[in-house]
Amino acid sequence: MLFRRAKSLVGLDIGSSSVKAIELKPAGKGFRVSAIGVESVPPDCIVDGAIIDGGAVADAVRRLFANKRFKAKDVVASLSGNSVIVKKITLPSMTEAELSESIYWEAEQYIPFDIQDVNLDYEILDTTGEGSMEVLLVAAKKDKIADYTNVISQAGKAPVIVDVDVFALQNAFEANYGFEPSAVVAILNAGASAININILSGSQSVFTRDVSMGGNAFTEAVQKELNLPYESAEQLKKGQDVDGATYEDARAVLRAMTDNVLLEVEKTFDFFKATASNDRIDRIMLCGGASRVEGFAESLRERFATEVEQFDPFRQVGCDPKKVGIDNPDDYGPVAAVAMGLALRKVGDR
Ligand SMILES: Nc1ncnc2c1ncn2[C@@H]1O[C@H](COP(=O)(O)OP(=O)(O)OP(=O)(O)O)[C@@H](O)[C@H]1O
Ligand SMILES: [Mg+2]
Repeated sequence: MLFRRAKSLVGLDIGSSSVKAIELKPAGKGFRVSAIGVESVPPDCIVDGAIIDGGAVADAVRRLFANKRFKAKDVVASLSGNSVIVKKITLPSMTEAELSESIYWEAEQYIPFDIQDVNLDYEILDTTGEGSMEVLLVAAKKDKIADYTNVISQAGKAPVIVDVDVFALQNAFEANYGFEPSAVVAILNAGASAININILSGSQSVFTRDVSMGGNAFTEAVQKELNLPYESAEQLKKGQDVDGATYEDARAVLRAMTDNVLLEVEKTFDFFKATASNDRIDRIMLCGGASRVEGFAESLRERFATEVEQFDPFRQVGCDPKKVGIDNPDDYGPVAAVAMGLALRKVGDR
């Protein structure tokens, strides 16, 4: 079993409202969770994917790894939001060697930063075009990556891979659901500050985007409309009555905000349909903490007349609550998809 994975890794999702970590163990033909944790991050420490208060984030990560069930030293993390640019580009046909020689030069026109300041990665998607090929380009600013790796080092772990949230979601989806060759599936991860969207056609990602709206927008709307402190608004949003207001008061505000958020999702879907060769979405896989806002899944289903399914990251990769020392995997499932996708990565993967 040891040769299946060269080395054990922890998948660490550094989210703006909480950090989540998962470590896996081989089990049968697949894996099971051997350690899992979530620790909250104070507001405004991470803004639009950029780490503002590294010390506070490192503290949260340290608290996570105080759980002795986490054994691995090596960590896979991920970026999202403005920290990373994902673009599909068309280039003249060339060999892999030629591509690796010329990619920085080719990429220059697609990247709004000095090419010296970014780390580039790429994947050849399609070579069937006449005289041309499609390449997926991923670029992240070196200083943004360093902010993430520094946090991990400060917490006593070794950062070995930095991935992208939307790709981690795809990875977790593949492991738990497999790919349906002819289906177009949109994965939606509604977090605190953003909604990561990855649209898959069969096994290929055909569109990705981070919509910069999420759970915080709901909390802020409740705070403003009902004139409450942020913490109370946050609690009320999750269905608990607070001093000075009942959940009933928040309902209309939440519903209105759901409409706003879905309008943004709709714009993204419209853009996808206008630019891709597909113009349908067969299914939406929904996860992320903000997807738990009452009526969110239902509204998605109605608005897009599409099947909406809860994305369960433990569907195939088992999570035995007793073995990992948690009460209920359902508390973790909705927010664990990115960490799961990261934990499934192997050293040497790109
Ligand atoms: N039961 C609930 N009802 C409504 N909202 C909830 C519930 N539980 C969590 N949330 C919201 O989900 C959000 C956190 O989700 P998640 O952990 O997926 O975000 P994150 O990864 O920290 O953020 P991001 O990826 O945007 O940086 C918060 O806005 C939180 O208020
Ligand atoms: Mg997140």
